Amino acid sequence: MNSKVLKQTIAEIFANGKGILAMDESTPTCKKRFEAAGIPQTIEMYRQYRQLIVTTPGLNESIGGAILFDETIRQQTDDGEPMVKALMKAGIIPGIKVDMGAKPLPEFPKELVTEGLDGLRERLAEYKTMGARFAKWRAVITIGEGILTDACIHANVHALARYAALCQEADIVPIVEPEVLMDGNHSIQETYDVTEKVLKALFSKLYLFKVDLEGIILKPNMIVAGKGCPNQNSVDEVAEATVNCLRSAVPASVPAIAFLSGGQSPKVAAEHLNAINKNFKDRLPWIVAFSFARAIQQPALDVWKGESSNIKKAQEILSSRAKIAAAARRGEYNSVME
Ligand code: 13P
Repeated sequence: MNSKVLKQTIAEIFANGKGILAMDESTPTCKKRFEAAGIPQTIEMYRQYRQLIVTTPGLNESIGGAILFDETIRQQTDDGEPMVKALMKAGIIPGIKVDMGAKPLPEFPKELVTEGLDGLRERLAEYKTMGARFAKWRAVITIGEGILTDACIHANVHALARYAALCQEADIVPIVEPEVLMDGNHSIQETYDVTEKVLKALFSKLYLFKVDLEGIILKPNMIVAGKGCPNQNSVDEVAEATVNCLRSAVPASVPAIAFLSGGQSPKVAAEHLNAINKNFKDRLPWIVAFSFARAIQQPALDVWKGESSNIKKAQEILSSRAKIAAAARRGEYNSVME
């Protein structure tokens, strides 16, 4: 492991107030999003959409790294240029999703464990030759009746730590993502308690597996109430709960935190990130940025509709959402930007 290389990659991704664009939707997720937007669900349409993203003018002003799916890292633009090359030419560092998805945890109904450790060392070596300098692994944590169990936490943080160690061995920065889902009726306090417990278990496991904390990016959820909870909280309350939770569980040696958006609207995700950075500037030992998928992409996908005549407009919207996220990272977001 070369920790200098890891630190350099992290510094480049987040330089000048930039963040990460997640564009690594798996085939089933892509299918779901395209179906909802009325776009044909074919590999060629997925390629055209990813091409739209990587060729968006000025995207690198707010995006320092983009996470790809295996399908995309092997694809080319219409000009025959690999998508990764198009990103690198634009000054955006390519990353790769390496987990194989969250599968049912046997004997624990409704709980999931993320798979993909077998053969990971070899896959990382291949992705590195293709240009990937960072990777992502998402663990899914569900709050519900009788769950979350300790078995689910243990299985998922174990996998995250093994993954992170394998990435660092290959000088690839691991994005470590334990996502506590917004699905459910739980209160903000329940999200806080579960997230804190999961993060503490995670960092204990990262320590056990000798992961260099200065060479990871943490990708957590914000501390919000479940979507079905009747009591939704103000922007300032969410920001305060999120900062308190992270300060209680995330070591200061972690260089950067990049939030997922998790189903929050683009505007709300930006407001929350902004309040965190603006209200708590002096209490954040880490870079606090974004690694959004839906909160940057969704409005552009809705405008594109699979039509080439809409590409320019969709790219403008994508670029504008990325700029808004970057402004929120700096605590300079304002609703007139919407
Ligand atoms: P969302 O921002 O849409 O939650 O996606 C982030 C992500 O990469 C989930 O793994």
